[in-house]
Amino acid sequence: MSQSIESHLNEKRVFKPTKQFSKAARIQSLEQYRQMWEESIKRPDKFWGREAAELQWQKKWTKVLDWKEPYAQWFVGGQINVSENCLDRHLNTVRQNKAAIIWEGEPGEKRVLTYQQLFREVCRFANVLKRNKVKKGDRVLIYMPMIPEAAVAMLACARIGATHSVVFGGFSSDSIRDRIADCKAKLVITTDGGYRRGSIVPLKKNVDDALREGAHGVQKVIVYRRAGNEVHIEEGRDVWWHREMDYVDGHCPAEALDSEHPLFILYTSGSTGKPKGILHTTGGYLMQAYATSKYVFDLRDEDVYWCTADIGWVTGHSYVVYGPLACGATSLMYEGAPNWPENDRFWRIIEEYSVSVFYTAPTAIRAFIRWGDQWVKKHDLSSLRLLGSVGEPINPEAWMWYHQVIGGGRCPIVDTWWQTETGAIMITSLPGAVPTKPGSATLPFFGVDPAIVDEKGQEVGPNVGGKLVIRKPWPSMLRSIYGDKARYKKTYWSEVKGCYFAGDGARRDKDGYFWIVGRIDDVLNVAGHRLGTSEVESALVSHPAVAEAAVVGRPDELKGQGVVAFVVLKSGMIVEPHLREELRQHVGQVIGPIAKPDDVRFADALPKTRSGKIMRRLLKEIASGKAVTGDTTTLEDLSIIAQLTANND
Ligand code: PRX
Repeated sequence: MSQSIESHLNEKRVFKPTKQFSKAARIQSLEQYRQMWEESIKRPDKFWGREAAELQWQKKWTKVLDWKEPYAQWFVGGQINVSENCLDRHLNTVRQNKAAIIWEGEPGEKRVLTYQQLFREVCRFANVLKRNKVKKGDRVLIYMPMIPEAAVAMLACARIGATHSVVFGGFSSDSIRDRIADCKAKLVITTDGGYRRGSIVPLKKNVDDALREGAHGVQKVIVYRRAGNEVHIEEGRDVWWHREMDYVDGHCPAEALDSEHPLFILYTSGSTGKPKGILHTTGGYLMQAYATSKYVFDLRDEDVYWCTADIGWVTGHSYVVYGPLACGATSLMYEGAPNWPENDRFWRIIEEYSVSVFYTAPTAIRAFIRWGDQWVKKHDLSSLRLLGSVGEPINPEAWMWYHQVIGGGRCPIVDTWWQTETGAIMITSLPGAVPTKPGSATLPFFGVDPAIVDEKGQEVGPNVGGKLVIRKPWPSMLRSIYGDKARYKKTYWSEVKGCYFAGDGARRDKDGYFWIVGRIDDVLNVAGHRLGTSEVESALVSHPAVAEAAVVGRPDELKGQGVVAFVVLKSGMIVEPHLREELRQHVGQVIGPIAKPDDVRFADALPKTRSGKIMRRLLKEIASGKAVTGDTTTLEDLSIIAQLTANND
């Protein structure tokens, strides 16, 4: 739930790390954290140089950072391979036969892949990619459910230097088509289907639909058989994963890649236009994914670590696959829904595998609260030692429930603020060092220099709300928007001079703790998923009955924000009873089910100023059922307000 500054200003509780936790942690006190943070800011070369030495480089860098705003190059001149660091590096150690991935399918199948086994699968699949003409620098689109092969596909791309773009399995064929076109993908990796709440999602069919129309450069589609549902196989284009694996051997040296070689493109919603392809590169990204996994989750060899995010989101990239595997940790993957077949699926998994570190989103936590403690109480969760939260502001009530009911009052919570663009965690507590306050993401990670500034770009004092900016480049920062440098510069580096603007509003308290309020641009955060209002608007106007649409967010107890659409129909069209549902379904089809508006309201016109600007503030007030306040004198037609408010059903 987005918090207002007023609501969390009253939060006074502080939770100190226990002595026992601190004693065993990598960073054991606030003092140690502060010293290291100071060093990381004043002498980034020294700090990151030392951290980077823990990774395996094929060629050492000559310079840690080259910064020509807004373009950063990290570990200049170095050569490194991400898959080698996630796999090969652990092979001649005690980790060779340790579980790299523990997987459970939604129907209940279980699989364990050791580092040795995962290495072999990745090498073979990398050879399959080569066999299918994928070369270093090519783009590969991955559209798969949460199965180990999704991680295999990502790591195989990284091994040969192909740039992957993972598309969330809940997105529609239109979304796949747009992304294929934007990144000019040469090959698609998918499955026949995937399980979600007991039914099969037809992933291959969605890929077929995406490739049916329009020009595209996709030459091959590799299909992994997951759900056994019938699929169309297009001769000459589609090949089966298992057949291809039979043709190749397990020998595939890791390509020596420049530190700045593109590792992946991940599409995310912005405040204007279509989703933008956030570009991440190799050395710096791996560095921060590794360092944050190590320090924030304080991973140890005996941990069973579970991040519940899907690989279709950045959290799945950095904290299901790359970060934990670079640390040699055991990463648990679960394919399906948390309430399938019953509301205790997650707690059952934690008990069965003795999960010790658990990382999930506030939306999920709020759903668990609603389902009731009885589902939790049925299970022994005593293996847990650390909890994490990501994706949205966590309201103090949810934080307290997480702490007490899931963490049994003994597990520290790391509330981690970051974004697709930042690549890795930026503001967070370190569990053995930083006292936590429910609802605050606390302090910056090493090398991160955030500030709160006002409209003029001036830093504001304690407890004053403003824009969250980052004042220095960090290793895992996005390098560009794929194919659109101008948009990169404009979106992130022009709002506040010399700073990266995150799009979030926040405040900092007198202890220097950050409290994130939420997005202040036209981006919604629905159940931890980013959605651009303009994206939903263009989906709505692509329906034949719609002339104009405006979309805003309203607070939602469960999802943080809900989507409300205000729609003007084309002349001659009448509001038929089925139209509301039809428009919801239409948006679901164009973008994906997560984008379906919770509420659709019709009016003869949208409230606009005399210069033609839609009055969003006013729409937000109407959407959340508040009285319309503020100045409406510039409003073209006052009767519109009455219409939109009356439609409130
Ligand atoms: O508004 C912030 C919110 O999620 C946005 C980033 O979304 P996305 O790129 O999809 O990445 C989500 C996972 C990293 C941010 O601009 N956000 C993320 N984490 C937090 C958060 N808001 C408050 N507290 C957090 N811990």
